[in-house]
Amino acid sequence: MATVALVGVQWGDEGKGKVTDFLAARADLVVRYQGGNNAGHTVVVGEEEFRLHLLPSGILYPDKTCIIGNGVVIDPAVLFEEIEALTRRGFTLARLLVSERAHLILPYHRLLDAAEEERRGRGQIGTTRRGIGPAYTDKAARTGLRVIDLLSEDFPHLLAEAVDYKNQLLSKVYGKEGVKYEEVYREYQGYAERLRPYVTDTSLVLSQSLAEGRHVLFEGAQGTLLDLDHGTYPFVTSSYPTAGGVCIGAGVGPRAIDYVLGVAKAYTTRVGEGPFPTELPGELGREIRERGREFGTTTGRPRRCGWFDAVIVRHAARVNGLSHLCLTKLDVLTGVAPLKLCYGYRYRGEEIREFPASLSVLRSCQPLYEEIPGWTEDVSQVRRLEDLPYNARRYVEKIEELTGVPVALIGVGVRREQMIICHSLFS
Ligand code: IMP
Repeated sequence: MATVALVGVQWGDEGKGKVTDFLAARADLVVRYQGGNNAGHTVVVGEEEFRLHLLPSGILYPDKTCIIGNGVVIDPAVLFEEIEALTRRGFTLARLLVSERAHLILPYHRLLDAAEEERRGRGQIGTTRRGIGPAYTDKAARTGLRVIDLLSEDFPHLLAEAVDYKNQLLSKVYGKEGVKYEEVYREYQGYAERLRPYVTDTSLVLSQSLAEGRHVLFEGAQGTLLDLDHGTYPFVTSSYPTAGGVCIGAGVGPRAIDYVLGVAKAYTTRVGEGPFPTELPGELGREIRERGREFGTTTGRPRRCGWFDAVIVRHAARVNGLSHLCLTKLDVLTGVAPLKLCYGYRYRGEEIREFPASLSVLRSCQPLYEEIPGWTEDVSQVRRLEDLPYNARRYVEKIEELTGVPVALIGVGVRREQMIICHSLFS
């Protein structure tokens, strides 16, 4: 398998958890490189369902080394909740490693996230309110606290300074109550000793593993359109889910990445606010939501649903340098006829093929569609491309043609084994 960066190419929720879990079987190490517990990965193993927010999906295999890289923001309460929940279900987490350089989410980050959303009012982003944005803001402002700081003797002093500043911000700017230093200190001091055994220089571990020829899977959270630079700014998250984020967030160079696998749903979904050209606000959108169980893993919010948008995926192909696509949830489209694929937009009478940076342009874009007749046969048991119904194959081929990226994997159900392998590249 060599090394694979797995990235979402839409607005997140593409089903990356299942694909990561599927590929993790072939990897030695699985690395999360950005985001935090705003992510939610659902993985079904046998009859059991697992919901992970912070832990890499590879954690469900006993023999994989799982790394939480420096680009991740860690809420220790959530990390230990997940560790405990998995331990109770019989998993061992001896192979979990946490970067000493990863930044921490503190209670004031969650308060600031909520306060800032309130301030934005009708223009709110629809964040997960997990403190992600404020934690990354602190990182960029050089006022953040890292895992290594939590373990150092300077922690009480660093925390006191941070709490003092954030409490002023909360009260003077937002009119909110702040946090109590003693409470936060006691809580985080408790985490420090529990975290210590997992903490290391994960970039060093990775470089040694790569030198030994180990297979590494870099697991992205969120998606390209939520990327701080390449997404639908400001309706984005505060990290870099794109392939470039792997280098920064895992501490490896660009030459360490052999393949970039973009995960796209066979249709499109979005949670939170912001324009969505192929959105289906009516009955069909609701039907797809129900069938695809399109409700957020983290917040339970209903996801907005729409047709597959090749303009978006072409944009993602370019900014990520995609080598292959994985198409998920093809089974959800069974019985939908005709199917529509968006190949471009009409803007002020002109056809445009590239994804616009301006949200006001995007809001005025009318999607241009090609239609494909649907199929009614159950595809959930299909394991070979040639066994798919003719129109399902045409749908996949059309996506390859419109995006310029070969489809390597196709998901046809929630289970690990419900996957069609078109290219043996990852096997
Ligand atoms: P934040 O990451 O909580 O700051 O939220 C910023 C935007 O990213 C909001 O629109 C969220 O709904 C969206 N978002 C964050 N994480 C995910 C995810 O894992 N899947 C889908 N959307 C997400």
